[in-house]
Amino acid sequence: MEETNKELFEKVVKVAQSRGFVFNASSIYGGLRSSYDYGPLGVLLKNNIANYWWKDINNDNEISIFPVDTAIIQSSEVWKASGHLAEFSDPMVDHKPTGERYRADQVPDDIDKADLTEPRQFNLMFETSIGPVQNENSTVYLRPETAQGIFVNFENVLRTMRAKIPFGIANIGKSFRNEITPGQFIFRTREFEQMEIEFFCKEEDENRWFDYWVKKRMEWYKSIGIPDTSLRLREHSDNELAHYASKTVDIEFLYPWGWGELEGIANRGIFDLSSHQKASGKDLSYFDSENNEKIIPTVIEPAGGLTRTLFALLCSSYDEDEVNDTTRTLFRFDFNIAPIQIGILPLSKKDELIEISNNIKNILQESFRTEIDVTQSIGKRYRRQDEIGTPYCITVDFDSLEDNTVTIRNRDSMDQQRVAITDLLGFFSDI
Ligand code: GAP
Repeated sequence: MEETNKELFEKVVKVAQSRGFVFNASSIYGGLRSSYDYGPLGVLLKNNIANYWWKDINNDNEISIFPVDTAIIQSSEVWKASGHLAEFSDPMVDHKPTGERYRADQVPDDIDKADLTEPRQFNLMFETSIGPVQNENSTVYLRPETAQGIFVNFENVLRTMRAKIPFGIANIGKSFRNEITPGQFIFRTREFEQMEIEFFCKEEDENRWFDYWVKKRMEWYKSIGIPDTSLRLREHSDNELAHYASKTVDIEFLYPWGWGELEGIANRGIFDLSSHQKASGKDLSYFDSENNEKIIPTVIEPAGGLTRTLFALLCSSYDEDEVNDTTRTLFRFDFNIAPIQIGILPLSKKDELIEISNNIKNILQESFRTEIDVTQSIGKRYRRQDEIGTPYCITVDFDSLEDNTVTIRNRDSMDQQRVAITDLLGFFSDI
């Protein structure tokens, strides 16, 4: 990581932790390496991103996307048929002098390659067992992708929703991978959240839908406030392709250490449905009434990381500027995505000002995420709201008692304007 970017990374991590976005997991016991808990603001931000994702994938009248929420623990047969038991592994090497383990393609530059063992394959799935007796039949795995929950429910959704291709099934939730080298804060963790769509179409339309999803997902990242200069597309070379994919294009983000994956859009063809059909003996075909034939639909998969997107958003929104010779730290979140959209700051803790603040919260909270902040001086409260990325603050002062107006302060321009309390809802609805 270059020095300046290392600094950016450290600052983002510091604000995220000190302001309640992300905490080290088990911190009172010294933490668990590469495991994180999301705090109040992190949960709000994560939920906003997830809601935006659901909203966006459903905004096209031409197609239907059906939601599912599938179990983390599925039958082990699922992972046998999907190829994950045999194929979902990374080459791993050991550093003989220290016993440290690395992914073969992620060995730090300062390590002498002569000190490494030959690469061995290491399956990334977490294994556990169900029931009181442990034997080979009780072995189960934590899902390494949300996608398989969709494939094994293909027929259920097709039948119950009377779906017609092209259509998609979307799943969001936790996935688990025993990554050999997790790291870079929440970029690569062993427990993370994915947001995945399996889009079922006819084989002859696969290129059209592949391009459609690449474009749509790229636009979505811009719509949540990630600048397009920090985004690019990169197609996988043949030797990088996952065992199920015939083509994959990654949407990459410019992280503080360089370009890296944010989302992968893959053509999974008929790999998964036909594997599950064969292994389960169940008919997973689709009846194409236009051509009067049964087909296994082709699958285009946009697979994004929710927690990774949150990290990308923290990095791209972080900013500093100079105000009155002091450095101001802020997240420049878009109004729609910010954890808190409007901070309400009574100038003092006097009952009359608190009452007006409560009234304003009542007016705004149905439509916006608001917070009343009464602790510390008004300057410190502005600073905190800037740091957590709140786009607007409303200050309630003693004039408000007389004329029913308040001051709205814009986070980015720091402009202040006086607005009647009765106009507040209209003001924020127009943004
Ligand atoms: N179903 C296909 C699939 O899982 P992937 O490229 O391995 O594809 C999709 O994962 C997305 O999930 C990635 O682009 C990334 O955003 C996120 N992701 C994968 N592994 C992750 C990890 N260890 N930590 C955080 N996010 C991860």
